[in-house]
Amino acid sequence: MNSDPSFEIIRINDLGADGKAVGRDQNGKVVFLEGGLPGELVEARIFQRRRNFNRGKVVRTIEPSEFRISAPCVHFDSCGGCAWQDLEYQTQLEFKKKRVVDNLERLGGFENVVVDDILPCAEHFRYRNKMEFSFGVESADSESENKSEFALGLHLRGEFARIFNVTECLLMSETCNEILNWFREFVRTHKIPAYDVRNHHGYLRFLMLRESRKTGEIMINIVTSSAEFPNSRELVSELTRKFPTAVTIVHNKTDSKANIAYGESEAILYGSGYIREEMLGKNFRIYANSFFQTNTLQAENLYNIAFAQAELQASDKLMDLYCGAGSIGICLAEKVQEIIGIEMEESAIISARENAIENKIENISFIAGDVRKTLRERKEEFRNTDVVIVDPPRAGMIPRAVHHTCDLGARRIVYVSCNPGAFARDAVLFDQGGYTLKRVSPVDMFPHTTHIELVATLDRR
Ligand SMILES: C[S@@+](CC[C@H](N)C(=O)[O-])C[C@H]1O[C@@H](n2cnc3c(N)ncnc32)[C@H](O)[C@@H]1O
Repeated sequence: MNSDPSFEIIRINDLGADGKAVGRDQNGKVVFLEGGLPGELVEARIFQRRRNFNRGKVVRTIEPSEFRISAPCVHFDSCGGCAWQDLEYQTQLEFKKKRVVDNLERLGGFENVVVDDILPCAEHFRYRNKMEFSFGVESADSESENKSEFALGLHLRGEFARIFNVTECLLMSETCNEILNWFREFVRTHKIPAYDVRNHHGYLRFLMLRESRKTGEIMINIVTSSAEFPNSRELVSELTRKFPTAVTIVHNKTDSKANIAYGESEAILYGSGYIREEMLGKNFRIYANSFFQTNTLQAENLYNIAFAQAELQASDKLMDLYCGAGSIGICLAEKVQEIIGIEMEESAIISARENAIENKIENISFIAGDVRKTLRERKEEFRNTDVVIVDPPRAGMIPRAVHHTCDLGARRIVYVSCNPGAFARDAVLFDQGGYTLKRVSPVDMFPHTTHIELVATLDRR
C-alpha cells in the first residue's frame, strides 16, 4: 500500500448514473471513482475532497469482481463512450434496473410500483444507426503531445476539448468504421483544418454517420464552420465509388459556439439528403438534423412495449407529445381513430408529415410547437383525448407541460423516458395531477453505456 495519504483503500458497492464506481473509504465516507466495479476492493488516488464525498481514480485492483470481463474495444481505456464494457452484460442489466428502482424510491417516493426486469438488447455491439465524431486536436497518449496533431474521433474520458483518433468503434458497422478512417485520411491529405473548441478557430467540426438498419443506406453529414467545403467534388466521387451504400452526403454549416453537431444551413453534396429506414413495417426518411431512435431494432421493442401498455381501442383519440418525426404515431395509427402529434422542431414536423404520406396514414396530424404552449392555447381542440403518449427529451417535461397534459383528462398516459431521474420527478407531478403510476418497464437500448430507457403507465384516478 502506498504511504502517500492521497492513496486510499476503498470497497466499491455500487455504480453511479454517470458510470462512476461508488464506494466508501475506511471512515465510511462516500467516494466516487473512475474505474472499478461493484464488489471490488481497490487502491485509489483521491484527487478531490469535499465535505460529504471524495473523488478519485482506481490505481490498483486488490480483489477483482467476479463479473469483470476483458473489454473488447481497443479504445476502452481512453474512450468516454462505453463506461461498462468490462462488466458482464447481465450485471449491467441488474444495475440499470436497480437505478430505475432507486430513482423511483429516492426522487419520487414511490415504493410499490411494479418495475419489470429490464428488456435486454439482443445485439451487444454494432447496434447504433448513428454516430457523431468530433474533429480536434489529438493529445494524451499521442506521441506528439505538444504538436497539435489533427484527430477525428471521440472525446477522451472526462475531457471536453480533447479528441482521440477512433480507428474502430464497436457500436457501429464495419462499413461505417471504414468510412470514418477513409474520411480522416482524405481531410488530412487535403490539409483541411480541424476546429478547435478552445479558441473557436478552424473548420471541420463533426462527422456524423447514419446507417439504416433495414435498408443499409448510409448518410455522411459533415458539420463545419461557415465556408464551402473544399475539394467537395473529389470527396463525393471518391467516397461514393469506394462506398456504394453511401447514398447521400450532406454539409451542415454553423457558426454557433455550442458544441453540437447541428447546422444552421445545409447543402446536399450528393443524393437526396435523407436515408430510408423501416420500423415495425413502416417507412421513414431520416434527415441529417432530425431525431430518430438510434437503435432501430430495440426501438421496435420499446415501441411495442409502449403500445401494449397503452391498451388502445379502435375508437381512441391519441396524442403523441414530443413526437419527433412522427414514428410512434405512424407505427400505431391503424390501431386508433385519430392521432395528433406535437413537436417543437419544424424540420421534424416536415419529416413527420412526409412520413405519414409515405405510409398512406390519413388519421394523423402534426402540430409544430412547444408542448406546454400548444396544449394551453389549443386545449378545446384536444378535448376527448383518450390516451396520451409522451416521449420528452433527456431533461424530461417542465411542470407546466405536465400540468396541461393532466388537464387533457385522458384515461391513460404512457411515458417513454430516457432519463429515470427526470421521469421520477415528473411522475410525482403526474401523481399530483391525478394520475397513479402503475407500471414501469425498463429497456436496454445501449449496452455498455449508462443510458436507460423506460416505458411507464400512469392511470387517471
Ligand atoms: C426523445 S425525442 C422523441 C422523438 C419521437 N417520439 C421518437 O420516438 O422518435 C424528443 C423530441 O422532443 C422534442 N422536443 C423537445 N422539447 C420540446 C418541447 N418543449 N415541445 C415540443 N417538442 C419538444 C425534440 O425536438 C425531440 O424530437
